Amino acid sequence: MCGIVGYVGHRPALPVVVEALRRMEYRGYDSAGVAVLDGSGASRVEKKEGKLANLEAALAAAGEGGFPGSTGIGHTRWATHGRPSDRNAHPHVSGDVAIVHNGIIENFAPLRAELEAAGVELESDTDSEVAAHLLRREMESGGSGGDFVAACRTVLRRLEGAFTLVFSHAAHPDVLVAARRSTPLVLGVGEGEMFLGSDVAAFIEHTRDAIELGQDNVVVLRADSYEITDFAGEPSEGRPFYIDWDLAAAEKGGYDYFMLKEIAEQPGAVADTLLGHFQDGRIVLDEQRMSDQDLRDIDKVFIVACGSAYHSGMVAKYAIEHWTRLPCEVEIASEFRYRDPVLDRSTLVVAISQSGETADTLEAVRHAKTQKARVLAVCNTNGSQIPREADAVLYTHAGPEIGVASTKAYLAQITANYLVGLALAQARGTKYPDEVAAEFRQLERMPEDIQKVVDSLDPVRGIARELAGSKSVLFLGRHVGYPTALEGALKLKELAYMHAEGFPAGELKHGPIALIEEGMPVFIVMPPVEGRGVLHSKLVSNIQEIRARGARTIVIAEEGDEVARPLSDYFIPIPASTTLLQPLLATIPYQAFAAEVAAARGYDVDKPRNLAKSVTVE
Ligand code: F6R
Repeated sequence: MCGIVGYVGHRPALPVVVEALRRMEYRGYDSAGVAVLDGSGASRVEKKEGKLANLEAALAAAGEGGFPGSTGIGHTRWATHGRPSDRNAHPHVSGDVAIVHNGIIENFAPLRAELEAAGVELESDTDSEVAAHLLRREMESGGSGGDFVAACRTVLRRLEGAFTLVFSHAAHPDVLVAARRSTPLVLGVGEGEMFLGSDVAAFIEHTRDAIELGQDNVVVLRADSYEITDFAGEPSEGRPFYIDWDLAAAEKGGYDYFMLKEIAEQPGAVADTLLGHFQDGRIVLDEQRMSDQDLRDIDKVFIVACGSAYHSGMVAKYAIEHWTRLPCEVEIASEFRYRDPVLDRSTLVVAISQSGETADTLEAVRHAKTQKARVLAVCNTNGSQIPREADAVLYTHAGPEIGVASTKAYLAQITANYLVGLALAQARGTKYPDEVAAEFRQLERMPEDIQKVVDSLDPVRGIARELAGSKSVLFLGRHVGYPTALEGALKLKELAYMHAEGFPAGELKHGPIALIEEGMPVFIVMPPVEGRGVLHSKLVSNIQEIRARGARTIVIAEEGDEVARPLSDYFIPIPASTTLLQPLLATIPYQAFAAEVAAARGYDVDKPRNLAKSVTVE
């Protein structure tokens, strides 16, 4: 997830592009860069690792007039392939071509090999750079009739994956070509000027007339015109709309809080995390500095993490043990090294961290390494410390999470953890290749169902407003519903400062049931009806026990669960799924509930008190 901007018009492009990048910085800030076409056949490019301020300092050093021209592109990066560095920053340049890219070009490896075989020297470790070289070669070889726009379309037809791309060519300074597939791109239509942005915040101060580009659309942009086609050049149409948000709302995509935006981004976070990880019938990790034999030699798995990441690990334990038949323990990272766990070179330690900087998790990783254990990092932040020290890495592609409470990173972690489980099962042969493929296909179908849950959260918000005055809330579940209960309680504690506890539903009668008093809200996730019938009927009994003691039950269950419905004071339906995949759906109402209770209580949803997004102290 990166920020993309573009400008073609009558003003100096540089200040417009830099200001637009400032508004896109929430989408990533590992590095930033610009290219400005000066109109006389040259383009000036500057790019710098780190926040936009570093780029601005470099631009200031070039002095006024250093970047003349009224056509420009810009990029602010959230690293996916290749760690943050000047070299990996965008724009990527090949001869007269400069491009910026958001997304993942899934077939970059064969394209890169093809370019290298043709003698092209690639400068970066990114998947993006291939697009620049392909375009240059297409133009120089006289392909596509030497026509810039046609050549862009030819290149686009060769790319697989998810991408927004903006192409510029120094010899065509009055035109930009942009395209999108599965990642966002909006066009801003001004008076004698056109804008491009990953979202409307990029240009809202200049124009309120916008056009959302459809899937697989290409737009050819000139100062006073735009033309939309598909990748084959057939005419197409975008969706015009008027932006009536103020600037602050625009940065949050129209949502009141980043957290709400991030809840809505979860289908994409899960889809992007899966992207590119099933190739030639096999699960592939991002970086594997250990052999398949090492994976086969593993005889025990430890998962270490904190907070929500720990809950994602608890969910994964069920899948990993089921698929690999390896014992899997899940441990709070801050406890791990102090109890002297039994580790050796056949132990795999999976360290899960959104930030990649959490001190407790990092120290657990270091301890594991001193004991010769192998470490696999599941991380959302490319180039951060934990993946740097690990033997293997799988990145979650949730994009930057601004709200302090984890939402989309959490679902992406569950997804990535499942990929780890499948990679282990594949290496160890505990699942046949077609079974691994079938599990992956099921995961691939989840974003659609996640979207359905995201689209039906209004009733949950209504329940939240009704219950916002509660003193205490309990969350119950069995199997993967238990970590989901813990996550629901954590969200409510950290955002609404409300007492909340998560329990395994069967454990309640061993003590906590004494907490139940008349009217107390109790959330329950019902397991799917199919497959785990025993679990389902056990939960029915647990609900009856708490209803008998006066609790108000809020039941999250499959939409067709007619057994659970009459036992609910409030019923929250979710699409049917397998038991293992259900947390990807059942967690979402908990996120929305906590955010709405916090808002109703007048608290800052994105920045709860006493908390920080990265906890770099032990
Ligand atoms: C809760 C939350 C925290 C983090 C925890 C670990 O909403 O966000 O519990 O999950 O601090 O952080 P990372 O994943 O960055 O290691």
